[in-house]
Amino acid sequence: MLWIIFLMLNGLLVLALLYSTRTRQKNEPPLDKGFVPWLGHALEFGKNAAKFLARMKEKHGDIFTVCVAGHYVTVLLDPNSFDDVLNDTVFLDFTRNRNQLKKRIFSLQLPTSLRPSAERKWMEMHFQGFSLSKLSTSMTTHLQNLLLNEQKGCSPSEWSQEGLFSLCYSLLFRAGYLTLFERTDNTAAVYKEFRKFDDLLTKLAHCSLKREESKTVNSAREQLCELLSPNWLSGGSVSSSWQRSYHRFLEEEGVDAEMQKRALLLQLWTTQCNAGPAAFWLLGFLLTHPDAMEAVKSEIRGLTLQDSSLQHPPINPLETCSTPVFDSVLSETLRLTAAVMISREVVQDKTLRMAEGQEYHLRRGDRVCVFPFLSPQMDPEIHQEPQVFKYDRFLNEDLTEKDEFYKNGKRLKYYTMPWGAGNNMCIGKEFAVTAIKKFVFLLLTHLDLELIDPEAKLPPVNASRYGFGMLKPDGELQVRYRLKRKLQDM
Ligand code: HEM
Repeated sequence: MLWIIFLMLNGLLVLALLYSTRTRQKNEPPLDKGFVPWLGHALEFGKNAAKFLARMKEKHGDIFTVCVAGHYVTVLLDPNSFDDVLNDTVFLDFTRNRNQLKKRIFSLQLPTSLRPSAERKWMEMHFQGFSLSKLSTSMTTHLQNLLLNEQKGCSPSEWSQEGLFSLCYSLLFRAGYLTLFERTDNTAAVYKEFRKFDDLLTKLAHCSLKREESKTVNSAREQLCELLSPNWLSGGSVSSSWQRSYHRFLEEEGVDAEMQKRALLLQLWTTQCNAGPAAFWLLGFLLTHPDAMEAVKSEIRGLTLQDSSLQHPPINPLETCSTPVFDSVLSETLRLTAAVMISREVVQDKTLRMAEGQEYHLRRGDRVCVFPFLSPQMDPEIHQEPQVFKYDRFLNEDLTEKDEFYKNGKRLKYYTMPWGAGNNMCIGKEFAVTAIKKFVFLLLTHLDLELIDPEAKLPPVNASRYGFGMLKPDGELQVRYRLKRKLQDM
């Protein structure tokens, strides 16, 4: 017992020494260690990363190093300088940190021989190019069936009431699951367990689960792994699905059966956790901004008028016509609600060159990250009144896409980054955009949708989700909906 106490005290001493000995060296970014040895700013960071980093930006400027749970993290907030981080694959490594998170969240450990570039290439083959149109068609069919089948039997005068977040998440999740996993037998059960898992995911990542929460999340994870197990293994139908091909890819890479299940859970989360929340925010902004709603509806009316088959309106004329207003609304929604954190480990001492000419030394073993939500997305120098939803922010007067934004007088390559960039770029971007647009189009053309309380405001964001992709609301927005009497009634 005495030995244990002695060793623990020694450990604490070493940590305190390590903590107190780190000082800012010449050419290094400003250093902010916080007051608590080793822990540094971990609590504030985990509670609300956006608020904490905004405070640090105010204090130190566009680059600084903070201590977070024993790690020194350099945060870069000048988008004109992002490329030196995003494109560096020699001095910076993006796999280690990611693998740690995969292990912590999904209990997933893939063989070291499996190169991330091979996995990415495989995914590109299945989410882009030729496969994309097949996936998108299947997604449209499932969305249509789910939405309209649920309304079957309801008379047009009958209103249904629901939270908008739950409506969007459940419909897009189920349609996405049916499209990629092609399983009709357990969709509801998978969605139920997925929501439990996803709700606790950030706490799992930050290791801050309470005992009961830990039980819930572990049980949800195990159940999901079982539910996702391909049914062809137990004699079910053999299909040429995405899932089957992924299974073959993993097997060829030497991944064992247990890890294959966990890899499928990771894919389920990656492919299904963002589109539903994005559709929620988009519809939420439209419902709480009547001018934006009218502009989108007017654009949709124009589309259906342009369509020659008006007698039998096709379910989606989006593919052939451009929709600049809708596109701007989507970009503006994502600017306000997509909050990925792009992180790299410094594997060799590196000189970071800023666009303004300064050079900073980054130490081997530290981490460097960019947080596009704070800049460019919410940077008042780039976007005027960044907290305000302006549906035409990404629209020029001639209705072309606005893509000219500046910081320090320099035109920006990165003026909004909901999809990440470089090695972190979303592979399903086109699929996601098509799915969200189709979903919103279907809802607006087939349903009367309105707020229960016309004065209701959007719920605030759940602050613990900063850094994990699309933000989720802390609360609901209650809506009611019913089938339109006539499709053209808009
Ligand atoms: C609004 C919806 C979406 C947003 C904002 C979004 C955003 C992102 C971001 C920021 C990343 C990089 C994450 C990181 O590296 O930390 C990512 C990765 C990825 N996304 Fe999306 N995504 C969305 C929807 C989708 C959909 C619907 C799919 C596929 C069906 C998809 C497939 C992927 C894949 C496969 C990756 C992993 C790339 C890799 O591991 O290198 N995404 N997404």
